[in-house]
Amino acid sequence: MTRRIPEPFRIKMVEPIRQTTPEQRRIALQNAGWNPFLLASDDVYIDLLTDSGTGAMSDVQWSGMMQGDEAYAGSRSFFRLKQSVEEVTGFRHTLPTHQGRGAEQILFPELVKRCRGKQPVFVSNYHFDTTKAHVELAGARAVNLLTPMALDTAQAYDWKGDFDLPALRTLLEQEGDNVAGVIITVTCNSAGGQPVSLSCMREVSRLARAAGVPVIIDAARFAENAWFIKHRDRDHAGADIATIVRAMFDCGDIFTMSAKKDALVNIGGLCCFRDDDGLFRAVQVRCVAMEGFVTYGGLAGRDMDALAIGLKEGMDEGWLTYRIAQVAYLGERLQQGGVPIQTPTGGHAVFVDARRLLPHVPASQFPAHALACELYLEGGVRGVEIGSLLLGRNPATGEQESSPFELLRLTIPRRVYTNDHMDYIADCLIDVAGRAASIRGLQFDYEPPVLRHFTARLKPV
Ligand code: F0G
Repeated sequence: MTRRIPEPFRIKMVEPIRQTTPEQRRIALQNAGWNPFLLASDDVYIDLLTDSGTGAMSDVQWSGMMQGDEAYAGSRSFFRLKQSVEEVTGFRHTLPTHQGRGAEQILFPELVKRCRGKQPVFVSNYHFDTTKAHVELAGARAVNLLTPMALDTAQAYDWKGDFDLPALRTLLEQEGDNVAGVIITVTCNSAGGQPVSLSCMREVSRLARAAGVPVIIDAARFAENAWFIKHRDRDHAGADIATIVRAMFDCGDIFTMSAKKDALVNIGGLCCFRDDDGLFRAVQVRCVAMEGFVTYGGLAGRDMDALAIGLKEGMDEGWLTYRIAQVAYLGERLQQGGVPIQTPTGGHAVFVDARRLLPHVPASQFPAHALACELYLEGGVRGVEIGSLLLGRNPATGEQESSPFELLRLTIPRRVYTNDHMDYIADCLIDVAGRAASIRGLQFDYEPPVLRHFTARLKPV
């Protein structure tokens, strides 16, 4: 029998969590307008809303925080962070930001300004929702060119985060000077935390550079992506994670990072540049105005120290092997119980295919969101919809955009829940799946104009 990989850490501090009764959960969800985002975390038993900023720091990170230098300018903590970034990625010019979207908001307007065309467009395997929002706020368009192999959740494929390369070639030819940047998102969150192959990253980089377009790596889950490359690409089976990480970053000219994921901190981000050119300096100016002075960018000195350490801890191979096995274990349990998921499982979450589980609920009634509500009612487990509710309406026409997926994301925080928690989650969701036919869709009580899944209020149809 293959042995399950136990947690590669001992628990030094605990945070009690509280189970609620079914009646308490019914009232809580009703008060939250059938939107798990609006629940108080006290009413949640196991929180799988996100893996962002929800992880547990190590003893080494906590002790690093005690050494934070809180100088406004030129703090020691900044220089330690800059050093760590350079060792891990090879990028020499670092701007800290308060989180990933802070990096997006100072970078994209400058890329748009430098774009030679008239209708700037950013191309990505898949823009994360804040990334798309910042592209649009900067006056540009966000185009996703994801491999069609990602769309069939039942069909396993190793590189469901890859670009549709023929489509990228065509777009670069057709749009020419209008392309402000190519964004490689590793791993591809929206497709299921799915990895991007190194060969795809290299080809994207080659095509973009040949067209004179900057390559931006959205590096939130860079270490998980590197682990997949090591374990799925025979050419890199013998390489260590650090070498693969460096090869990935070699494909980019700029990177943005939400450090709240693989870099194992509760807050923080990065906006880094290979070259000290006009672009870097223009983004520095914007950083001062919007995030904070260039040596803190909205972070405390102690946050930068935790991040400097977390960047490297996050690449530990034993940690990553356990991490990805834990996510896979939850996926296997669900599949054994007849719950359809995006296969294979990705790095940070199991994505349940609500379209297949609830075929009687149309996209207009948000099947994955309905499933999220049922899972909460069943066991106090909070997941998040990645589907039509999240995607929203076309700003020009007001029509609901057609979503390629209706997924319920069960996002696993890092170093927080044990494999016993995974069993509990699987047991609850398998029970929900057993009564799938009786689950109803949802309709709006209040529909916010933008980013509606955060604050919408709904009710059962
Ligand atoms: N890029 C990716 C791929 C992300 O997944 C996120 C955040 C961001 C950028 C923005 O970073 O939150 O630090 O400002 N993803 C979180 C999630 C929120 O739940 O997937 P941020």
